[in-house]
Amino acid sequence: MKITSRELRQKFLDFWRTKNHQIIASAPVVPENDPTVLFNTAGMQPLVPYLLGQEHPAGTRLADCQKCVRTVDLEEVGDDSHLSFFEMLGNWSLNDYFKKESIAWSWEFLTAPEWLNISPTKLAVTVFAGDNDAPRDDESADLWSQCGVPPHRIAYLGKKNNWWGPAGQTGPCGPDTEIFYWVGEGEPSLESNPGSDEDNWLEIWNNVFMGYLKNEKGEYLKAPRHNVDTGMGLERIVTVLNGVNTIYATDVFAEMIAKLEELAGQKF
Ligand code: SER
Repeated sequence: MKITSRELRQKFLDFWRTKNHQIIASAPVVPENDPTVLFNTAGMQPLVPYLLGQEHPAGTRLADCQKCVRTVDLEEVGDDSHLSFFEMLGNWSLNDYFKKESIAWSWEFLTAPEWLNISPTKLAVTVFAGDNDAPRDDESADLWSQCGVPPHRIAYLGKKNNWWGPAGQTGPCGPDTEIFYWVGEGEPSLESNPGSDEDNWLEIWNNVFMGYLKNEKGEYLKAPRHNVDTGMGLERIVTVLNGVNTIYATDVFAEMIAKLEELAGQKF
């Protein structure tokens, strides 16, 4: 195993410390004060009051590893990359930095030799294509270009893919930009990206630029604050960093599976 889930979790939090983020603990999986959902489905859930403007005691830059139960993906659980219970690594800007820093720092964490050292040729991104509610996110695409992402690795997709939130029916939301890792055979072809070749790219990180509020009428209103909410699936990133093709081959599950095989006296 090249990196364990424990090492990765630590590395992520250490990185955000170097960017002046305070580390906060995971909230319980069952929300304490949120009637809009049954479980914490994302790292943002326990932070909604602060995304709406309440002052957070730890400041305006936070990082965490939140336990999540995501029921919307239930049909996909059992494949190589979806879990109903998982941990989401996140960094947060509460009306502090926005797209420029968020994108540059995500790229640094993923590709810098002292952090994850992922080859940029294995990465591609998606950005919001724009619709009646919000414009196309050219700013994020430009920022990715400045990091060195070539135009053919940037896909523009609609709300279904590149908009996040609100977590319940109403609340903070906005366009997002997602980062994908190449899981296909060999090297990706020149024109391959997560829009044209979705089966060969695995989403590893989602940076949400929360500049909107959805109201009861279903309208998306410009929010008076700008927040950043990012979510990186701990189990997924450990999978790709170890060059294995399923979350069940990572240290998160492998030891348990080995024990079960021993007790059952057969290979699963
Ligand atoms: N809220 C976003 C998600 O869950 C990013 O953290 O993907």
